[in-house]
Amino acid sequence: DYTPRPEDKFSFGLWTVGWQGVDVFGPASRPLLDPVEATYTLAELGASAVTFHDDDLVPEDSKREETLERFAKALADTGLGVEMVTTNLFGHPVFKEGAFTANNREVRRYAVAKTLRNIDLAASLGAHTFVLWGGREGAEHGAGKNVRAALDRYAESLNLLCAYVKEQGYDIRFALEPKPNEPRGDILLPTIGHALALISELDDPSMVGLNPEVGHEEMAGLNFAQGIAQALWHDKLFHVDLNGQHGPRFDQDLRFGAGNLRGAFWTVDALEGSGTGNRYDGYLHFDFKPPRAEAMDGVWESARACMRNYLILRDKVRAFRADPDVAAALAAAEVATLNEPTLGDGESLADLRAESHDIEALAGRSVGMEALDQLAMEHLLGVR
Ligand code: GCO
Ligand code: MN
Ligand code: MN
Ligand code: MN
Repeated sequence: DYTPRPEDKFSFGLWTVGWQGVDVFGPASRPLLDPVEATYTLAELGASAVTFHDDDLVPEDSKREETLERFAKALADTGLGVEMVTTNLFGHPVFKEGAFTANNREVRRYAVAKTLRNIDLAASLGAHTFVLWGGREGAEHGAGKNVRAALDRYAESLNLLCAYVKEQGYDIRFALEPKPNEPRGDILLPTIGHALALISELDDPSMVGLNPEVGHEEMAGLNFAQGIAQALWHDKLFHVDLNGQHGPRFDQDLRFGAGNLRGAFWTVDALEGSGTGNRYDGYLHFDFKPPRAEAMDGVWESARACMRNYLILRDKVRAFRADPDVAAALAAAEVATLNEPTLGDGESLADLRAESHDIEALAGRSVGMEALDQLAMEHLLGVR
């Protein structure tokens, strides 16, 4: 039975089910969804937490207090938490040329102020993760953006935000969300690797990690499971955006499991730490867009399916990892041997260099990868 439970820690952005289907070729295809109503429905479907951009929940200052009260009641009624909050630094045309990295200094100062205000809200709601997705930080033209200066300003803003959180004593960490393009032609911090590199240059790298999204890495032709495995290796997988994508094309934001299904299988395997023991224990956050063609029934169906697909894939991954034939295939592929250091304890490089190797035999050895992968495929296809 694939019923979501609180311990599964599923969470949803209010903007996901709330997406009205506005795209570059047409206006909204669905009515406005009250974010507070959405919170109740997500709880019924089995989510344990919700997340939002400031503008998803409190777009208008005039209704801010009233909306926050209704939202607090919804959280209390349902038992849902707010695990993450993020700031909309991309929608309003003021950010058309960037937010933290806009050439215009006043825009940058406004972006920082908007984020600080939202960090206060995040702290008051008990969120421990604050996501920063810089969709407008980038360019379409070469000379129009000094990338070096833009990275200086990106780092400066992150340092200011980290210092503020420390000064306030908030228990919040930041998670940067990479994306290669869309809405800007070329976005700064386009991949997990770029973002990790920037983090290492910050004043306090321990406060900043990543929120990688399946589709964003796949838009760049990259392997998501491998990307998050590296993020986990750096202790930087602070959060995750699960969704689906079919290869390099526009950001599809499909429901989790749709699109690259094999990729989703290995993503669940990586999150569960099956192959490595290095498990992700944060929230499983869905950031998808119910297709524009769907009416509200399809919206809720796609939200339900995100969780259901995760649970089905988790079962498949567990069955794969528990299968004795898989254990034998892993051994044949020498997978565990990779855990052994290349230079043994007490050995010197001279020992290593003195060794003679039968290169031809090594070149001709069996690696057993196809047999191992076919077992995974058969588990995924449900024939084992
Ligand atoms: C996208 C992104 C955004 C961000 C979100 C958080 O699909 O391009 O996923 O949805 O995750 O806006 O700021
Ligand atoms: Mn996306
Ligand atoms: Mn996202
Ligand atoms: Mn998204």
